[in-house]
Amino acid sequence: MSENWVGRRIEVEVGAVAHGGHCVARADGRVVFVRHALPGERVVVEITEDKGGSFCRGDAVRVLTASPERVDAPCELAAPGGCGGCDWQHASAAEQRRLKAVVVAEQLQRLAGLDWDVEVEELAGGLEHWRTRVRLAVDRAGRVGFHRHRSHSVIPVRECVIAAPGTVDVLVERSWTPGSSVEVAIDATGRTHASEVVGKRGTRVLGGPVAVERAARREWTLDARGFWQVHPDAADLLAEVAGQWAAPAEGAVAWDLYSGVGLFASVLGRAVGPGGEVIAVESSRRAAEDSADNLVDMPWVRTFAGRVEHVVESASLPDPDVVVLDPPRKGAGRPVVDAIAARAPRRVVYVACDPAALARDVALFAGHGYALTGLRAFDTFPMTHHVECVALLEPAQA
Ligand SMILES: C[S@@+](CC[C@H](N)C(=O)[O-])C[C@H]1O[C@@H](n2cnc3c(N)ncnc32)[C@H](O)[C@@H]1O
Repeated sequence: MSENWVGRRIEVEVGAVAHGGHCVARADGRVVFVRHALPGERVVVEITEDKGGSFCRGDAVRVLTASPERVDAPCELAAPGGCGGCDWQHASAAEQRRLKAVVVAEQLQRLAGLDWDVEVEELAGGLEHWRTRVRLAVDRAGRVGFHRHRSHSVIPVRECVIAAPGTVDVLVERSWTPGSSVEVAIDATGRTHASEVVGKRGTRVLGGPVAVERAARREWTLDARGFWQVHPDAADLLAEVAGQWAAPAEGAVAWDLYSGVGLFASVLGRAVGPGGEVIAVESSRRAAEDSADNLVDMPWVRTFAGRVEHVVESASLPDPDVVVLDPPRKGAGRPVVDAIAARAPRRVVYVACDPAALARDVALFAGHGYALTGLRAFDTFPMTHHVECVALLEPAQA
């Protein structure tokens, strides 16, 4: 059996960025995924995880030759042994977006065989204090904090560089139940909602059960613990882009899959008008109820509470002119892609929070003759490795 490298310090030349918030280096014929480094740097990496095989993981603990794009991380926890919530605090804003663009392009190339020149677009508001929804852990002393990277231990915090004011800062003076987690959100009205969560059960501690948000020229009311984009400008921006690209004809049928509280369904509903129909599908019963309540002024939007993979099998669903889908991190997968393609929509707009899942599903759509004809990527999660993409797929020209 080969020697375990954990704890070993090695000098390496840092290569390309890889998906997940790290860069690739090589040592003694193995791949080392290095955090806290940037491409082109020479660093000393300390190995933190080695499960054998061709790769291991490590943290750059000393920078010998720094990238010109390196900056001082504003948070001391964005460092080896820290919280791991932010991957790129040590990179300039432009470099963060460049790294994400490289990752999106690389995933499309590797998983879908596509060469695409990707640009990641900046949102207003800068790199700090943007995050309106945060989940924290509680330590044994009842203090909120974040899990140490790839660990269950909790680092207590009094603030968070990327969290919006009115989230983490309002939690720190309280004592919380050890072992619970705390979900906090600040909504568009500036109201803070916080719940202490044990298992799946949340007990409201601050604010009310209903958050109010604004996007796509509407006001939304939703479960304060339910899904909503965490960057304050993201929901509106994504709705605009998805609406422009989907562009269903008046009177047409549109599907909004993984519809949450109906953000994209509202845009599609406005476009198709009362003579058309929108089918929204969402597995969370509460979100589906919020969707129906929010869109009560558009009775031609029908919300189905159920899993997309089951609902789209239903022969009674009308064929869509266009489909918008916004699946969770793992993507839609083959059964859903097959079911969409079988209905031959004119356009598919795919909103993706994971570029690997997007690329896998783009490849599946290609198998049905759909080509990627548009891609926009947005830095809706500054300082982290996360990136939001909107892809347009259309039947390839014969
Ligand atoms: C990324 S969110 C998108 C929500 C919405 N499009 C928005 O922008 O606000 C994904 C949504 O899919 C739902 N979901 C996850 N798995 C699902 C499934 N198999 N079928 C239907 N909905 C699902 C989640 O509850 C969540 O609301």
